[in-house]
Amino acid sequence: MGINVALDGPSGAGKSTIAKKAAAALRFVYVDTGALYRSIAYYMISQGIAADDSEKVIGALPGIDVRLEYREGSQHVVVNGEDVSDKIRTPEISMGASKVSAIPEVRTFLFDLQRDIAAKNDIIMDGRDIGTVVLPKAQVKIFLTASAEERANRRFRELQEKGDPSTYEEVLADINQRDYNDTHRETAPLKKAEDAVEVDSTSLTLDEAVERVIAVIKEKTGTKGEPPAAGAKKERKPLLDFSGIEPVKRGKKLNPVRMFFYNILRYLVIGGFKIAYNLKFEGKENVPKDGSNIFASNHRGYVDPVFISLACRVPNTFMAKEELFHGKKFFVWIIKKFGAFPVERGKGDMQAINTSFEKLNSGRNLVIFPEGTRSKDGKVGRGKTGVALIAAVAQCPVIPVGINYEGEKLKFRKKVVIRFGKPISPEQLRITTPGPKELKLLRTTIMDSIVELVH
Ligand code: DC
Repeated sequence: MGINVALDGPSGAGKSTIAKKAAAALRFVYVDTGALYRSIAYYMISQGIAADDSEKVIGALPGIDVRLEYREGSQHVVVNGEDVSDKIRTPEISMGASKVSAIPEVRTFLFDLQRDIAAKNDIIMDGRDIGTVVLPKAQVKIFLTASAEERANRRFRELQEKGDPSTYEEVLADINQRDYNDTHRETAPLKKAEDAVEVDSTSLTLDEAVERVIAVIKEKTGTKGEPPAAGAKKERKPLLDFSGIEPVKRGKKLNPVRMFFYNILRYLVIGGFKIAYNLKFEGKENVPKDGSNIFASNHRGYVDPVFISLACRVPNTFMAKEELFHGKKFFVWIIKKFGAFPVERGKGDMQAINTSFEKLNSGRNLVIFPEGTRSKDGKVGRGKTGVALIAAVAQCPVIPVGINYEGEKLKFRKKVVIRFGKPISPEQLRITTPGPKELKLLRTTIMDSIVELVH
């Protein structure tokens, strides 16, 4: 038997994100058992069976073949030959999973599958009953919690960024309902195993929670890290931990009807802008026709994101400084509608990075202004390495953009030239270990390409 780590806890405590990262750091296999219950719920719903209709659910179980497959380190759930991994993350399936998981026969049905994987690998398995029922002999048991309000808060932010209209109150009610279901069911209710170590993530950042979980695993399995020698320089912690994040899967097609209307709106705005400014685009042949690209641009004014978007057939999303999201409600609504999402600058904002990956995976483009702020004199500043880090991990083409205003500020009828440079290809970005040196080099390549376009 390999090393078994059981990680249990309520919905939304961050189990999967934390387990994924800890597993990647320790080279363990990460097993998300919630995905198994979700896949059962998905199957039932697709067959028109209500998730709480025990009799019908039990009757349908023999027709399901569930498998877990691992590709490039990430888990895929395959039901009767169909990879359902991307389809089981909706609120409907979450609630359905909570319901089917209360049916004892469903739990028995999934039991052997979970045990088999644990027997053959070093694993971190997350769920509700892993430490109590599935792997009662696991060497390490961790119970991860966070207050319901904090869990609702995190989930609410995620949903908002996806444009979901749910209110905070609805999200909190949903969390409370699922907690109730999971802790009150008769079979294998969610509860902390007696020998589990409790980690409360309410006031921890994601990185701190991952560190804490890794520390517990190392302590319990006896692989304590060496204390630093006296006088030794403390190793600088990387600002961001990208272990466990997969390169972006490009080629996702956006909804054609929305794209049609988006492009009509785009042409209307182009018309308006051509009246307001002497607007020119150069190098448009360098703008890919499909999505999942990163545009890295110099930054002159608030309208820059719009200028860049006017040349792209696929809607863009933007990293925008967090302060902008504290402004007037209408302004915040508008920038969100145009695809902006907040980033806390200089803090290694992992949430913003995750959102970037989500947007790129959804087939949209990502626009980044690596300088982090608008340039007053038109000169291109140094640029932060964040852009290099995202590009290297995402493996999406980076298109350098040069924004040129005639004069210091954007003025009515004055010349504005938007130049697009040759894409820097994923091959050029393939850095095997994205250490500080490699990232600085890539940042310089990107910034140099931008500088060439500003004149
Ligand atoms: O972790 P999750 O939100 O993906 O889990 C979905 C549902 O499945 C959750 O409501 C509880 C249930 N579940 C369970 O009962 N036992 C597990 N080991 C994992 C999940």
